[in-house]
Amino acid sequence: MVQAEWNVVQDAYESNNNKKYETIFTLANGYRGLRGSLEFSKIGNQGNFIAGIFDKSKSQVTEIVNCQDPLVLNIYFEDELIDFDKCLVLHFKRYLNMKEGILYLKSKIKTPKGKIINISTERYVSRENVHRWAAKYTISCENFSGNMFVENMIDGNVANNSYDPSSILKHIFIEQAYDMSPGIALISSTLEKHIKIIESSALISGSYDCIQSKFRKYRQSDDKVCELYQIPIYPNTKYEFYKLGCTYSSMDCNDIADSCKYDMASFIAYGYEKEKSDHISSMKDIWSDIDIKIDGDERAQVGIRFNLFQLSSSAYECGGRVSIAAKGLHGEGYKGHVFWDTEIFMLPFFIYTMPDIARSLLLYRYNTLNGARKNALANGYKGAQFPWESADDGLDVTPKWGLDYNGKLMRIWPGEEECHISSDITFAIWEYYRATLDKEFMLNFGAEIFFDTANFWKSKVEYNPIYDKYEIKKVIGPDEFHEHVNNNAYTNCLVKWSLKKAVYLADWVKDMDIKVFEKLCAKLNLNNNDFKQWDIIQQKMYIPCANHGKLIEEFEGYFDLADSCITRYDKNGMPLWPDLKGKNYSETQLVKQADVVMLMIMLGDEFDYESKYKSYKYYKARTMHKSSLSPSMYSIMGVILGDTRNSYKYFMKTVLTDLEDNQANTIYGFHAASAGGAWQSAVLGFGGLSVDKYMMLNFNPWIPDFWNSLSFNIIWHGSKISVKIMHDKILISSSKDVKIKVFSKEYTICSKKNYSIIK
Ligand code: BGC
Repeated sequence: MVQAEWNVVQDAYESNNNKKYETIFTLANGYRGLRGSLEFSKIGNQGNFIAGIFDKSKSQVTEIVNCQDPLVLNIYFEDELIDFDKCLVLHFKRYLNMKEGILYLKSKIKTPKGKIINISTERYVSRENVHRWAAKYTISCENFSGNMFVENMIDGNVANNSYDPSSILKHIFIEQAYDMSPGIALISSTLEKHIKIIESSALISGSYDCIQSKFRKYRQSDDKVCELYQIPIYPNTKYEFYKLGCTYSSMDCNDIADSCKYDMASFIAYGYEKEKSDHISSMKDIWSDIDIKIDGDERAQVGIRFNLFQLSSSAYECGGRVSIAAKGLHGEGYKGHVFWDTEIFMLPFFIYTMPDIARSLLLYRYNTLNGARKNALANGYKGAQFPWESADDGLDVTPKWGLDYNGKLMRIWPGEEECHISSDITFAIWEYYRATLDKEFMLNFGAEIFFDTANFWKSKVEYNPIYDKYEIKKVIGPDEFHEHVNNNAYTNCLVKWSLKKAVYLADWVKDMDIKVFEKLCAKLNLNNNDFKQWDIIQQKMYIPCANHGKLIEEFEGYFDLADSCITRYDKNGMPLWPDLKGKNYSETQLVKQADVVMLMIMLGDEFDYESKYKSYKYYKARTMHKSSLSPSMYSIMGVILGDTRNSYKYFMKTVLTDLEDNQANTIYGFHAASAGGAWQSAVLGFGGLSVDKYMMLNFNPWIPDFWNSLSFNIIWHGSKISVKIMHDKILISSSKDVKIKVFSKEYTICSKKNYSIIK
């Protein structure tokens, strides 16, 4: 049965939407992502991305590799290839059952020659065994008997950037195609680093023995391999078969062909259905950690689950080998690069629901510290400067050129200037530590990142003797409309925060383990003068606000720019450009995305109500939300300040970013940061979760009138805390004893008891 609140449904077929649904229906497991291509249409952008496999060769910068496509399956009835774009589609329903993690298709078509055929499929990318994926096909014909030919194929004729003919590039060459019998295999190798990838797949009969070796033909061409089965068919009989797939790369093991052959043999022996039930039971465990229930609002319920499903599919615990790209494993947008999106937007979700994955994501930054050190050196600084865009080694891979909103070529400056990423990372480390108390991580990895980025900041800041202040010049803050600005408030405040924490951590590490401290000091060439200097800089960091009282100025000189407020919105409620009176947006006070408002959420304790209120009101009227990272922050601040009508509006924009394609770019991949923002909006916004300066967990919830309740689980200091917020009360239970505050009143929640706190 299709339970509405667990399913994302496409109930009409239009080839124009294929690319969008490929993103929405991507199935991923952190190790890899397979775009949701429909086997029965040639219109789309196939995508098979394996986390961590990057290549540069002739592209502008290193990019995620689109690997050979294992999904291809062609079905012919005599000489007619099933192609929905040439058939009459009599019935079509495709849906992603998020509870199970299975993509279903139910369809009925009429071919140009009049054959009426029912096709049902299922597909999963295993959450139990990351190397496996599989599909099931059930076919019946209503008015025809004859031959059905099923062509199981792995297609190596794939390239990156297929949406942009001018930069189409193939990052792999095919090394070998062979008959694995059972199944077929195609080995490719990346051009630059020669990372080898093997895709294999095998067709297996389902309930009726239709896949028979005596009717099999094996074929290979330059970049494709296939096996073709002939199946005699009769009307109104169901033909059922499975396609099983195994994937390995030379980043996993040495002998990829052997590993693959062995895995395929055991997958075949184990069978599609058993693997499927293992996968579903892994999904059940995942949902028991991550689910958010919204009772009373089906659209919001499906929307939030979609974000949680796809975000949790984008990562797995892999010892810090990889992180999450801005577009997940769902598309090539932003070339598979990792941004602050991970630490600031996605990480809170992982910290509070899957802390092992959060740790692995932070370890990725530790593992790429050497690249960060090289960036600092190349830019004339000391210490470690994390890249604005990161791929496999921490070197900056931000492209220098791109297209602006009018499709014109423009210089891209964030690689040089958007330096807040380094303190975004330390901020995230602290958030992780605060929620997990993982001392081992802080001692062995986190502290080193704090210290070496402090070294970077020490060399980056400029002393202004007139004001006796430290400044950071020529930067880009979160608002990318304004480049080369001085003293962006977000950047300076976070640097101040990060240096202060680095000073604190120097003492903390010394107390925890003097040997680790000494080793770190020797490795990073630190002494007491450095710690003193960090402290002086943080105390004297310039924050542009003084002239405007409580209203924080986004950067020095921002208030002098031409002012124009947003007054018109599109059909999705997104702001329309106001009349810029001949100016470029960079010459106005229009803001691309939450900047000051974000800062005030992140460092909430450091700003009073009046400052938050004034800044929120001012910037709300000027924020274009041209990035999907933006609405969630306004939603959270709306709840904090009691502007709840807007909170719901921004929340819905966030959760529906991809389902409604409200940024008009879902075809390029999933908006993973927005998904993290959706979790934050629900839990930090409506759930009112915050951590105060005494490291105490606080809840100040509010839910929309028409919701009956909002429920979620979080992990805090090793306890799993379940929260259900209703209009008159809050129900809380915890797996261990824990102290929390609800509406500023302290409670001790004893394990295994249910607490009902009346509002
Ligand atoms: C946003 C950045 C973001 C990047 C990747 C840009 O449009 O301005 O804040 O990191 O997209 O999502």
